[in-house]
Amino acid sequence: MTKTIFEKTQSEQHAYSLPAEAPEFQNYYPPAHLLREEPLQLPEVSELDLLRHFTSLSKKNMGIDTNFYPLGSCTMKLNPRINEVSAALPGFTRTHPLAPEETVQGNLELIDELIKTLCHICGMTAGTLTPNAGAQGEFVGIRMIASYHKHNKDTGRTEILIPDNAHGTNPATAKMAGFTTVSIRTNAQGDMDLDDLRAHVSEKTAGLMLTNPNTLGLFSPVITEIARIVHEHGGLLYYDGANLNPMLNIVRPGDMGFDVMHLNLHKTFSTPHGGGGPGSGPVLCNDKLKIFLPTPRIEKSNDAYSITWNDPNSIGHISTFHGNFAIYLRAYLYTKLHGHFGLRRIAEMAVLNANYLKAKLSDIFTIPFPQHCMHEFVVQADNYLNEGIRALDFAKRLLDYGIHAPTVYFPLIIKECMLIEPTESESKATLDTFIQTLHTIVHEIRTNPDIVKEAPHTLPVTRLDEVRANKTPILNALKADSSLQFSPSI
Ligand SMILES: Cc1ncc(COP(=O)(O)O)c(C=O)c1O
Repeated sequence: MTKTIFEKTQSEQHAYSLPAEAPEFQNYYPPAHLLREEPLQLPEVSELDLLRHFTSLSKKNMGIDTNFYPLGSCTMKLNPRINEVSAALPGFTRTHPLAPEETVQGNLELIDELIKTLCHICGMTAGTLTPNAGAQGEFVGIRMIASYHKHNKDTGRTEILIPDNAHGTNPATAKMAGFTTVSIRTNAQGDMDLDDLRAHVSEKTAGLMLTNPNTLGLFSPVITEIARIVHEHGGLLYYDGANLNPMLNIVRPGDMGFDVMHLNLHKTFSTPHGGGGPGSGPVLCNDKLKIFLPTPRIEKSNDAYSITWNDPNSIGHISTFHGNFAIYLRAYLYTKLHGHFGLRRIAEMAVLNANYLKAKLSDIFTIPFPQHCMHEFVVQADNYLNEGIRALDFAKRLLDYGIHAPTVYFPLIIKECMLIEPTESESKATLDTFIQTLHTIVHEIRTNPDIVKEAPHTLPVTRLDEVRANKTPILNALKADSSLQFSPSI
């Protein structure tokens, strides 16, 4: 295990400190009244050891910048550096959300233009960029559906229909927004079972939440029929736009029949991806729902932009000020740099890469749905169960080969599944290395299964007791129980 910086302390060793009394460094120090009276007990290490400690920690992180990261359902695509540089321009970073409108016309124009571009791509008419993540976007969209029915005095609509392959945030959102969830079965082709939908849709249906392609990576050829059934019963359709990447400028959710949707800018539009943030989950809708959009809203009249902070029909504020401005600034640049046909090409390449992998892995894994996939696909590692090997073991062994594991055991309805999403950013050489690595692991299972069962061997933390790690997580390394297994060599 990596020693903590405190364990590395050697007395009389010091890194460099700025001379506190020198006037040119005063700006780097907090004012005296904010400082502790007693000096802080900091570890004593040389500057070089300090540098090595932090550099070594930084290298332990596996990310899209360092490794292939085919984590299905959590798109890990290139974040173009030009967008980072542009988002850091002082003209943007130095604006304040409470600055007078007339001084931030450029920022407001950017917000307005991005909403219009996203609406154009998705076939919607209005939107907001304020939610900070996809899940928060879902909450906004479902609250807007609730407001719509309330506005129409249609108060008996208490249920949201959700397919059994849905991402966990969908039912969580519906519950948080005060609805009961009703699960709709997936059929043998991996699509929504229309008979099950017909059996559950009713005058109690407020709406249906759906992602298309679904979480199995399959596009529903009956989507317009699904929309017709739900609308016929007075419900609305919510599009979970987490899987928009393969649809870009090919098919529009609005044309499929959806009324409201979110986008995960940190997926499709290449902005940095974090654990729930910093993200941006814009919500777009059609004319039926636009009066319920959150505030603040940007409006344009006589060539000037203004901000509306309150509207009695609105569901209200959902985030501080305008949300994560620096994130959607990056997405704005992404749409501008690629243009209409560039975005379409992104979708096509994402689909091509996924289908290439799927075809090349079909000799070692069960492929539950043989039809072409969209940007991601599921395979099953169930034919190795007799050797005591599960999907989890493949995931762990891949880490030893410097590849981030695909999503495992999601969607929940597929046994021993791995959900693989290469994205359009990856080269054929990288995809071939991934294919070759999985074949190598299969060879290891035949010749030396323990090396797979006990993986990973090369990471700071080796095989964990997954159940214990989930039930009693230790989130503070200093309190870590010594019974956890750490690789002594690192
Ligand atoms: C299908 C689907 N829906 C919703 C979400 C939630 O999005 P976010 O992580 O931005 O909250 C995800 C995230 O992975 C997803 O894959």
